[in-house]
Amino acid sequence: MSVPRKILVTSALPYANGAIHLGHLVEYIQTDIWVRFQKMRPKEEVGECWYVCADDTHGTPIMLRADKEGIAPEALIARVHGEHARDFAGFHVAFDNYHSTHSEETRFFANDIYGKLKAAGLIEVRAIEQFYDPVKEMFLPDRYIKGECPKCRAADQYGDSCEACGAAYAPTDLKNPVSAVSGATPVRKSSDHYFFKLSDPRCQEFLRRATREVCRTQPEAVNKLQEWLGEPGDNRLTDWDISRDAPYFGFEIPGAPGKYFYVWLDAPIGYFGSLKNLAARTPSIDVAAFTEREAAARTGTELYHFVGKDILYFHALFWPAELEHAGYRIPTAVFAHGFLTVDGQKMSKSRGTFITAESYLKQGLNPEWLRYYYAAKLNATMEDIDLSLDDFIARVNSDLVGKYINIASRCAGFISKRFDGRLGAIDKSATVEEDSVWQSDEIARAYEAREYGKALREIMRLADLANQYVNDNKPWELSKDATQANRLHEVCSTAISLFRDLTLYLKPVLPKLAEHVEQFLNISPLKWADIGSSLPAGHRINEYKHLMTRIDSKQIDALVEANRESLAPAPAPQPHSQQRHAERQQHAEEKAAVSHISIDDFSKVDLRIARIASAEHVEGAEKLIKLTLDLGTETRTVFAGIKAAYDPATLAGRLTVMVANLAPRKMKFGLSEGMVLAASGEGPGIFLLSPDSGAQPGMRVK
Ligand code: 2FM
Ligand code: ZN
Repeated sequence: MSVPRKILVTSALPYANGAIHLGHLVEYIQTDIWVRFQKMRPKEEVGECWYVCADDTHGTPIMLRADKEGIAPEALIARVHGEHARDFAGFHVAFDNYHSTHSEETRFFANDIYGKLKAAGLIEVRAIEQFYDPVKEMFLPDRYIKGECPKCRAADQYGDSCEACGAAYAPTDLKNPVSAVSGATPVRKSSDHYFFKLSDPRCQEFLRRATREVCRTQPEAVNKLQEWLGEPGDNRLTDWDISRDAPYFGFEIPGAPGKYFYVWLDAPIGYFGSLKNLAARTPSIDVAAFTEREAAARTGTELYHFVGKDILYFHALFWPAELEHAGYRIPTAVFAHGFLTVDGQKMSKSRGTFITAESYLKQGLNPEWLRYYYAAKLNATMEDIDLSLDDFIARVNSDLVGKYINIASRCAGFISKRFDGRLGAIDKSATVEEDSVWQSDEIARAYEAREYGKALREIMRLADLANQYVNDNKPWELSKDATQANRLHEVCSTAISLFRDLTLYLKPVLPKLAEHVEQFLNISPLKWADIGSSLPAGHRINEYKHLMTRIDSKQIDALVEANRESLAPAPAPQPHSQQRHAERQQHAEEKAAVSHISIDDFSKVDLRIARIASAEHVEGAEKLIKLTLDLGTETRTVFAGIKAAYDPATLAGRLTVMVANLAPRKMKFGLSEGMVLAASGEGPGIFLLSPDSGAQPGMRVK
């Protein structure tokens, strides 16, 4: 007999300076479903399965954000920790531990791993030159330097890549750089940095062997990693800079005063930190068995990381290389998923599709709707998944409510009212019962392989069969015939039994609903082993209460509206996360929306000084005044919507600015041959533009 599996599972640690949004939730829901499935398996098969996570708390952005808020970083990360824990719980993401990388446990592992890498000769100190902000007295990460793109000269570009032409470069290549922190001109300054020698042949050889193993379930990930690694002898991997200079919010490197571990060094170590913290209150956990190479090999523990495809290289290259050479165990597998799009597009604040977890819950939407929808879309690949809002409504309403819930709502009442809540015998001729048992292995395999879409398709096929059984046997008609009481009892009991099986299969996806069904059916928590044993005749169930409502499209409209933001400057981004990915997109979108036009574009507009030769009321027009404009060489008629602010009598003779090359527009009252320029804001008032004295009709404004 094989030994029960011992599994440690992680999701990527979210940064402690931003809200959880629907993009993040793809991963946490994906992982949570997998973990819940494992926890439902028989104990002889899966002995332990721990799901740990934490906030990723270190680094410059968090330090600067706290600074901006006028609070200590510790206070910021404590607040955000509370918000994140609340949001995850709201979506029923059931971590066994949600810790923080700013913890003694993580510091312990970081120091230990670093010390062992150093002892193995894999740490090197080298001086490097970087931009330094002389006002803020700090070295500037690439994303905090702005300047002109060295290639296309576009202004206002970040220090690592140009959003206008896509060029990638070193921050020191930027023209006219400025610090995004203080606005000062940065200076070049040299300092010692600590490098993990990824270029060492030991690392390259190890990674060539290991990445295939660690990403074995995702061929597209293996291809990506092979690309990064190149062929033997290519030496494509360069050493990794793992230190940052003070001021920095993080862990000081032992024996290196003023030098701190770079946030990406201690982030994955936070997985182990969270486990150690959990173990302190869960004595059955053997931390070494999950972290140390020999102990892990001896005990056969498994370690799985669920991550976004954008941070695959940290998890499949840097992290295993560190672990291997520090005598730690390497991940059994890294599972990378794609990004979330909403209605086929990147999440967007201006479209209202950058939806936070908090707002979703606050609007009163059921978190299990989203869990179901994501599960229906998820598979084991790195393809992006799309949340199509119309499809979301349709699928939840038709599958979850229309098919699954419908079974119970059609049959439970008869059991309560006619049979005192007691179940009867199961209909032996109902082949769907057998089908259900038959499919349980197939469904389990799909969950194990992260093919949730496939699992749900199979479950919904069974729900269709169960509904067909109810339709064929028509309990509502049987109930009218006193001689059919036994048959009614049998049919309804069989349908309820099928409903229980479906609930069991859906439980990893819909844990809260399953809990309510367990109360309704008066049974102990459903486990995989319950398949095949139906509820006994005579078992008493509770009264059926409605289990799930349909989504009303108005709720989705309100959600999008609540998340729609007017354009605001984007926060300075950190790289390498889906959150960052979304925010970078957001930034690009905002830039596009404030629409930088070229000087050529601007010069297409022919702006001229015009004298208002005459101004008159327009019969029947509420807002318009008819202006005759003198351009020096010609006159134009323009209908201007300024009646609310001006009396025509006061306008004749004054100078203003007009767009002279606007295509003439036929209006109800005549042809309008241009437009005058006026300012207006949120409040009342329209203000015609006037040039300084000296300007003459016909002069070009440019
Ligand atoms: O990309 C991110 O959001 C990082 N905070 C993920 C860290 S995952 C792990 F390495 F800790
Ligand atoms: Zn450029």
